Amino acid sequence: MCGIAGCVGHVNTPGLVVEGLETLQYRGYDSAGIAMQNDGQLEVVKTIGAPGNLRKQFDVNATIAETAIGHNRWATHGPVNMPNAHPHTNETGTIASVCNGTIENYKQLRAELTYNGYSFSSQTDTEVIPHLFDYYLAEGAEPENAFRQALGRLVGAYAVLALTDQDPGALYAAKFSSPLVLGVNGHEHIAASDTVVFAGTTKQATFLEDHDMVRLIADEPPRITSVKDSGSVVRVPEDIEDIEKKVGKGEFEHYMLKEIFESAETVRDATRGRIHPEDNLVKLGGLESVEERIKDTSRIVIVACGTSYYAGLIGEQLIEEIAGIPVEVQQASEFVYRNEPFDKNTTVIAISQSGETADTIGALKKADELAMLKLGIVNSLGSRIYRNTDAGVYCHAGPEIAVASTKAFTSQVTVLTEVAMALAEKSNTLNKPLMEELVALPEKIEAMLADTSAIQAAAKKYADYKNFLFIGRGYNYPVALEGALKLKEVSYIHAEGYGAGEMKHGPLAMIDEDFPTVALATDNPQLEKTMSNIEEIRARRGPVLALATAGNKEVEQTADDVIYVPASLEQTQPILNSIALQLFAYHVAVEKGLNVDQPRNLAKSVTVE
Ligand code: F6R
Repeated sequence: MCGIAGCVGHVNTPGLVVEGLETLQYRGYDSAGIAMQNDGQLEVVKTIGAPGNLRKQFDVNATIAETAIGHNRWATHGPVNMPNAHPHTNETGTIASVCNGTIENYKQLRAELTYNGYSFSSQTDTEVIPHLFDYYLAEGAEPENAFRQALGRLVGAYAVLALTDQDPGALYAAKFSSPLVLGVNGHEHIAASDTVVFAGTTKQATFLEDHDMVRLIADEPPRITSVKDSGSVVRVPEDIEDIEKKVGKGEFEHYMLKEIFESAETVRDATRGRIHPEDNLVKLGGLESVEERIKDTSRIVIVACGTSYYAGLIGEQLIEEIAGIPVEVQQASEFVYRNEPFDKNTTVIAISQSGETADTIGALKKADELAMLKLGIVNSLGSRIYRNTDAGVYCHAGPEIAVASTKAFTSQVTVLTEVAMALAEKSNTLNKPLMEELVALPEKIEAMLADTSAIQAAAKKYADYKNFLFIGRGYNYPVALEGALKLKEVSYIHAEGYGAGEMKHGPLAMIDEDFPTVALATDNPQLEKTMSNIEEIRARRGPVLALATAGNKEVEQTADDVIYVPASLEQTQPILNSIALQLFAYHVAVEKGLNVDQPRNLAKSVTVE
């Protein structure tokens, strides 16, 4: 939530920062702003909405600035308006700062600063930062110390960038509990919320840790020190060449569509080198270091949020069926409050696309306190969850820019299938057919994506309904939950996912001719029962759009409309089914003329609890 980018020493720092903000748009798009400093003079430009609007406000390419910092806002404190847009400045406009995070003690700090004669022009929590910086400079501290003292007063989570006219040409940056990474490229430095900002510019990144602060000057190595005791800190730059692909929409109208179409490739990438059907072998290098501890696992708790949580629900069934280990899936935001008994042989698996989700990080903290083994299934290398787990398996989905998660979900389910097989006894008879199916899956996905006309037609027909139910049984139950989430988040249509068996226990009361149901009716051992549920809905005049296995003509005799998907094993069918439902949600949103990639009120990387 919120994205920040700053740059020193580039030939066009404003251009790089605005471009960086455009890349980081997935983290927030309520408002955007940039502060530029040249010869000690600060200029701030802000806009409501997407960072691209900044280009209409000033000539990004012709503006000269030694340093620049920028921000995309996802509103937390105060509504979306210009005063609340970052960057915030001190009263005289000689200090500017941007912040990603939340300052929990801001009321107290505001009161104290107000008492000391400062006035505020926004309702944000983060405006205290430039004022505190100003306060300590006025007290006579050197800029670096003044910044450190200001940071020392903050309670909460933050990644901050700041400029001051008392140290022209320098960019100050610091982090605590929010992501901040440095890209180093010879003469210039970039500081940003995500390495995607560096794609194509730098090959190495330095991931700052909590309590790190840094002063960046062109041509000089970053000087990283500790906020706590001002001691020097060494952070070794890491190679990011292989992590990031160049981000762009290519020939696609939206990132969401592009990312759905990348699913075949990401499933392929998530299995490459890991599964060997010919030898009945699953090799997950990321778990090797904790092999012995994994062997002792008697119970698994999966923690995740949103779409990743639904991937976890599929993982639960996979691990229980294939490895025979009891699994429980908990929403990370609830896991932290529960007082359930755990023993030391409980392993926690955190699933996260961004690797920065605050609730999931909170759940890992609790797992830490309980000395549990912590595994991660993460898509963003270098992210906090990636770093805060003992071991893990990387999703290999590449950067996901659309707010609605699509290809990362299919990668997560692919990885969970691999984890389940890796945890199983070698003699498990399911492993080999599952491995063969995972190898075959990318081609099936490609075949499905080669003709999406039936999905588009269904989206056109159903786009005007106000409510939807999604139902499924067995492995298709979490797919129904995820299908409903996808539809609501991009189309703003009310949608709920239910186990098909639950219909008679309440939801059936809502069914009439204006309340359609999307039924997951692909071939599986529960299909007959799901067909009965479809009949019951049809008997109450509820329209039914069914997902069925190619070649199964029975479903179309009962449902109003059918989308066919290629046949797969029961355990891998969710991957194909969820891609079909992602496309359905996408096309409904397009029919409704909505901003598919950036749905209202949402942001990717939910870094606040
Ligand atoms: C929905 C979606 C969210 C995320 C959730 C967790 O499409 O993207 O529900 O899945 O915010 O995010 P990560 O996986 O980054 O931890």
